[in-house]
Order: sequence, then structure tokens, then C-alpha cells
Amino acid sequence: MTQSQFTPRVFSGIKPSGGLTLGNYLGAIKRFVGMQGAMETMYCVVDLHAITVWQDPKELSHATREVAAGYLAAGLDPSQSILFNQSRVSAHAELGWIFNCVARVGWMNRMTQFKDKAGSNAEKVSLGLYAYPSLMAADILLYHATQVPVGEDQKQHVELTRDIAAKFNHDYKTDFFPMTEPVIDGPATRVMNLRDGSKKMSKSGESDMERINMRDGAELIAKKFKKAKTDPEPLPDTLDGLKGRPEARNLVDIYAALSDTTSEAVITEYAGAGWGRFKPALADLAVDRLAPISDEMTRLMDDPAEIDRILADGAERARTIAEPILSRTYEIVGLLR
Ligand code: TYM
Repeated sequence: MTQSQFTPRVFSGIKPSGGLTLGNYLGAIKRFVGMQGAMETMYCVVDLHAITVWQDPKELSHATREVAAGYLAAGLDPSQSILFNQSRVSAHAELGWIFNCVARVGWMNRMTQFKDKAGSNAEKVSLGLYAYPSLMAADILLYHATQVPVGEDQKQHVELTRDIAAKFNHDYKTDFFPMTEPVIDGPATRVMNLRDGSKKMSKSGESDMERINMRDGAELIAKKFKKAKTDPEPLPDTLDGLKGRPEARNLVDIYAALSDTTSEAVITEYAGAGWGRFKPALADLAVDRLAPISDEMTRLMDDPAEIDRILADGAERARTIAEPILSRTYEIVGLLR
């Protein structure tokens, strides 16, 4: 197979660990919705990834449904996209094992996210956390996905996916796995922490004030933006003027992503504005965009059986794509089935 013979297919996923943040929404979910309809799209709640760090079992089930509710509330439609949770399709773990035998320890040692998460505690973290990028490669390649929309922080993992595909293809003298492209576009592929513009906004940061959660109410969103760290300067009239002002740049990028425009257009509109004008405008915009999604998530979470039905149906459809690909992989490797 040449690369052009792979059917265009989008795959991406979000870990159900803690609640969804504005980073997940702008860097991932909103962009997932944008790709829906143009080609085949598959969006997974990657629960097997979540357990690489301790998860309370009850909270894990809740968080899994909540990510699914976030997908649906933001506009993913189960009749247009395959929506499912990873552990329902056992082929992810099976292909993950094969890729553990393809990926090299040296490659894993270079994963910056592992280094950040493990910190000085690397001896004590789970083996799963270390092997995680190889499971992520399996998630993607199990469906021969050609495009993976992700935020900037996942770029290295998608590159590793390509390395694994290339080594598998080379070692087994085949062209079975595609060279998947990361899709990292738009103004908000790296939403930063509201209190420290040098750090990514994440679910697990120390203070809740450093992130916007999808389920925050209007008042809290306004308060968080009001207290967001900035500098004393007004907004400049070009993006260049934001160099060296990471907190200011972050708020402009968030505004641009929420209003479906570019950061350049936002700067043109707000040139010379002080924070007293920009921050309330940003808070209003965020509430306007996030509140309907959060309300819909609440409504969907009232009927967990319906969410489970949608995920089970998606898993069934995912399995029909995964099974022949896994079978052929076993055959290529020489495993008797
Ligand atoms: P996770 O669950 O940490 O994040 C889910 C998605 O949200 C994006 N994201 C952000 N984007 C912009 N700014 C931020 N501050 C921000 N925080 C998170 C992430 O880039 C990601 O796109 N390993 C993945 C999950 C995964 C996956 C996959 C993704 C597992 N298998 C296969 C794609 C394909 C992760 O931990 O994402």
C-alpha cells in the first residue's frame, strides 16, 4: 500500500482524569467538531490511559461519562462520528503490547511528558505511565488513522507513533501502517496557565484559579479571568508587540479561539485597550460559549444509561474496523490465531 491508499480517517482521544478544561475544549474538542462531517472521525475516551496514575474507580466511571458528555454537548454527533471508550475495544491493549516490543527504551526516555510527570519520582511511577505513548500509538494505528487532531503537548507522542509505524513496517518488510499526521492548528493549540504564562493549563495544576474548567459557572469564569496574571501594559496593535508577554498573548489567543477568529484580528480590534476593558469582554465571551455546553453536559449526565448506550454502540462500530487490522498485524508478526 502506498500512503495515498489509506482512507482518510481522523482519530483522537481525551483522558478521563479530572474534569475537562478550557485547554481540552479549545485544543481538542472544538477542533474535533470542526473535522466532523468532512471525513470519517473517531473520538475516544481513553480510560486505559487514565489509570497510568491512580484513579478512584467510581470517579473514573463518572469522569469517563463526563468526557463523553462533553463530546456530545460540544456538538459531536454519534451518527457522524464514532464515539467510544477505549477499554471496550480490547484490541487497543493487544496492539499496544505488540508496539511495546517495537518501540525502543531510548525513544521512551526522550518523551518530555513522561519526564515532566515523573519528575524526580521516576522510580515510583507505574510502568504504564512509561509505556503510555506506545499505547497511544496503538490507539491511532489500530484504525490506520491518517490524521490526529491534538494540542501542541501531544505532538511528540504522534511523532513517536510515526516512528513505531516506520520501524514495524521496516522490520516486517511491509507498508501496513500509515504515517499519521498530527493536526495542530488554530490559535489555541497550547492554552497556558492563567497564573503563569510559561506553564500549560492542565487538569492537575495545584490551584483551581490557574485553569477554566468546562463546568465552571459564569461568576467563577469572570473571577478567574479577572484575577488572571497580566502585565501593566495595554494591548499593542500588532502580535509582534506581544513578544515576551506570555500571559497577555495567552488571553488574546483564547479570545481568538473562542470567537473563531485569528489572534491578529483580536489585536486589531483591541489595539490600545487596557485589561479593564479586555478581561470582562473575554469573560463574557467565554461564558457565552461555555455555558450552553456545560448546561447540556449537566442534562446528559442525568441519563448515564444513554451515554453508556452511545459509547457501547460506538465501541461496536470501532471493533469492526479494528479487528481485521489487528488480525493482519498478528499474521504479519507470525502469531497463530
Ligand atoms: P489529554 O487527555 O491530556 O488531553 C486531551 C487533548 O487536549 C489537549 N490539551 C490542550 N490543548 C491546548 N492547550 C492545553 N492547555 C491543553 N491541555 C490538553 C491535548 O493536547 C489533547 O489533544 N495522550 C493523550 C490522549 C490520547 C490520544 C490518543 C490523543 C491517548 N491516545 C490517541 C490522540 C490520539 C492525552 O493525554 O491527552
